[in-house]
Amino acid sequence: MSSTRSPLCAVALFAFVVLVVAFSTRNWRSEDAKKTLLEELRARQQEILPFYPTKDGDTLSGTSAGSDVDAVACSQLARMQIAALLGSGYTKTVVQALLPPGPSVALKSVNHRGSDMRQCLEQFHDPMGCHQLVSFKLKKEIILLQRLQHPNIIKLKGHCQDGRTGRGITAILEQGTPLEMIQLLQSPWEERFRVCLGLVRLLHYLSQSPLGSVALLDFQSRQFVLVDGELKLTDLDDANVKEPTCQSDSDCMLQFPLRNFSFHCSEQRICEGMNEMRNLYNAYRYFFMYLLPHQAPPMLQPLVKEIMNSTGELKKGIASTLEAFEEILHIFKSGHHLENLPPLVIRDYVAVRGVSSVGSVNYRCWPSYSHQGCVLSVHSVTEAADICRSQPQCSSFTVQDQRTWTGRLLASFQSSFSHLVPDVNSVVYVRKMKASLVQAL
Ligand SMILES: Nc1ncnc2c1ncn2[C@@H]1O[C@H](COP(=O)(O)OP(=O)(O)O)[C@@H](O)[C@H]1O
Ligand SMILES: *[C@@H]1O[C@H](CO)[C@@H](O)[C@H](O)[C@H]1NC(C)=O
Ligand SMILES: *[C@@H]1O[C@H](CO)[C@@H](O)[C@H](O)[C@H]1NC(C)=O
Ligand SMILES: [Mg+2]
Repeated sequence: MSSTRSPLCAVALFAFVVLVVAFSTRNWRSEDAKKTLLEELRARQQEILPFYPTKDGDTLSGTSAGSDVDAVACSQLARMQIAALLGSGYTKTVVQALLPPGPSVALKSVNHRGSDMRQCLEQFHDPMGCHQLVSFKLKKEIILLQRLQHPNIIKLKGHCQDGRTGRGITAILEQGTPLEMIQLLQSPWEERFRVCLGLVRLLHYLSQSPLGSVALLDFQSRQFVLVDGELKLTDLDDANVKEPTCQSDSDCMLQFPLRNFSFHCSEQRICEGMNEMRNLYNAYRYFFMYLLPHQAPPMLQPLVKEIMNSTGELKKGIASTLEAFEEILHIFKSGHHLENLPPLVIRDYVAVRGVSSVGSVNYRCWPSYSHQGCVLSVHSVTEAADICRSQPQCSSFTVQDQRTWTGRLLASFQSSFSHLVPDVNSVVYVRKMKASLVQAL
């Protein structure tokens, strides 16, 4: 018996040993992973601590008011109706929520199917811990949104900490629309300039924010949204709030696929101005290059070219770049860039006030504010008349009291119309065919 039992025993013993060893290595491994995860959680906590306002003086503007707003929004969260998915990235997911009678809002929470979460689970096999870890990114974003306030940063309307909604931490934001580069490329220069100007104003603010000079590490267009045509930063978790530290100048290199730039390592052992310059070059390569030069008004082209060159070479900082942008805006608004328009061109048109045209035959032009016809922004009726003269199909144009963000008029050009109807806010300018023919002869 013992001879038959002992091999069995040996097998059982062997199996037991294997099991114990396997169990203890797994245990040992998971203990190790747990430790690493804890360390990471602690590091993330440490990272965001300095962003909280200190007690002495340096408080949030209206901290108490801010948290009141939050409390209201939070209690409303359960009643909100989710209407649509607005977008999602590696870390977060954003849905539209309706809250009648107010405007709809965007709710941002952890993306449990995002690659951040997936990577963490692969490494640590700890759903709770990973949720906490990824949540720190959203926490960082929320505290940064509280501390960094600017017209070109998305507005935080509130945030909820608890799991009452089953979503964990949630940020309640004003709602925007994704910034679609392809769509912007087809829009009028005025709108593209607006986006670039908004970005420059944002970067100027970030270079001297209450938290110091902030670099945006991920600068792609999907980190921004548009709200009524205005660019707003929405993804802030990948922001670097401190300038990089260094031992020597060689540590202060900015590397891009097509260009490298080197900076000075200061006596305080930081790469001074590097955050600002990183942002500016990214603005050049992700935004200006596509949006700015193309179809700029001829008189403004030299100024635009100068901006392209100085940002593409990082010859100037953000402050002088902002000045250059504001100058372009000033000239564009004032109409100085149109100074050599023939003023008499308007005499070729008869103004019919208080009417708008019906049954008009529209033609398309590019880049138009409307896809159906030819709608362009103009500084004055004279500029509209000049445009109509230059377009062979144009026989009349309508100017309504609607204006663009720079205060320019919107003019709609047409080749003909069937009749006119009363409209107090509109003037139709009809080309005097004979007069223009006589002039042309
Ligand atoms: N306020 C908002 N309104 C509309 N869409 C938004 C808003 N905020 C973000 N989004 C969309 O959600 C996506 C994911 O948000 P983001 O903060 O960039 O998450 P991640 O850190 O995962 O990249 C964005 O790319 C954007 O398209
Ligand atoms: C930038 O620097 C890196 C590292 O020094 C180098 O490998 C690369 O070729 C440089 N790129 C350009 C465009 O100069
Ligand atoms: C800036 O201008 C200089 C001189 O004309 C030119 O050599 C350089 O390529 C330009 N750089 C950019 C980024 O446009
Ligand atoms: Mg993003």
